[in-house]
Amino acid sequence: MNIQKTLNIILSLALVLLLVKMNTSSDTLVQEADQEVIDYSDIPKKNIGNHSPLYPTPTTVVGTKVNDKINWIAIAHIGNIGFDCLLLSMHKSHHSNQGIKKNQTLSVNMVTESMMIPADYVGMNSGKDVDKSEVFEYFEGTLQNAPMIKASPIAMECEVIDIYDTEHHDNFVVKIINTYVSETILDERERIDFNKVKPLLFEMPGRSYYKVGKRVGNAWKDGEKFKN
Ligand SMILES: Cc1cc2nc3c(=O)[nH]c(=O)nc-3n(C[C@H](O)[C@H](O)[C@H](O)COP(=O)(O)O)c2cc1C
Repeated sequence: MNIQKTLNIILSLALVLLLVKMNTSSDTLVQEADQEVIDYSDIPKKNIGNHSPLYPTPTTVVGTKVNDKINWIAIAHIGNIGFDCLLLSMHKSHHSNQGIKKNQTLSVNMVTESMMIPADYVGMNSGKDVDKSEVFEYFEGTLQNAPMIKASPIAMECEVIDIYDTEHHDNFVVKIINTYVSETILDERERIDFNKVKPLLFEMPGRSYYKVGKRVGNAWKDGEKFKN
């Protein structure tokens, strides 16, 4: 075997070893990150000002009709009020707001990963400029002007009960009138099983979508382990 051949073999072996090592260490990192439970008590805090840091939030698509045409909009600034109402914070410039104010009804549709691209599309384009009425196949419930998305596993038809006005936003307080859930994600007691449905999550600073992670605890139970 000549020297060149031997060198080639040694180099190839080194490359293979390097690749195997890189792969193993990234696996280990993922495992470590998975198991990491950080106590921030001793890490100095920096004031970054007046920005809401409460992310990720669920991504939803809100359905409405503006001038009798269906319009879809992505909304992630959404929250629960009690057990039967939601708050949707929607910038005053949006086309959808006109329809919601007029009709006093809307739908809220949970977005899953398979809906990410059309959901992002309706969040990037205004109904003022493009016709978004055919982006999603829809069905109707009992309310007028609240089209719901067939592809969404959880769709709610809602009535506006209040609008909390802030400088730039119409903050719609809506009452959920009916919730339509795909049967395969309900358990035997008709409760939504969040092991079966994975809402797409959204975060603002990085403009990213995430999947829901692993179940790590038991609510109203793990607190029993607290010792003062
Ligand atoms: C993932 C995502 C989430 C969004 N969440 C909100 C929100 O909570 N509130 C808001 O005012 N705009 C939000 N937007 C922006 C609107 O969806 C976007 O401006 C849309 O084009 C407005 O549509 P319209 O003018 O047809 O109503 C979001 C956009 C994306 C992509």
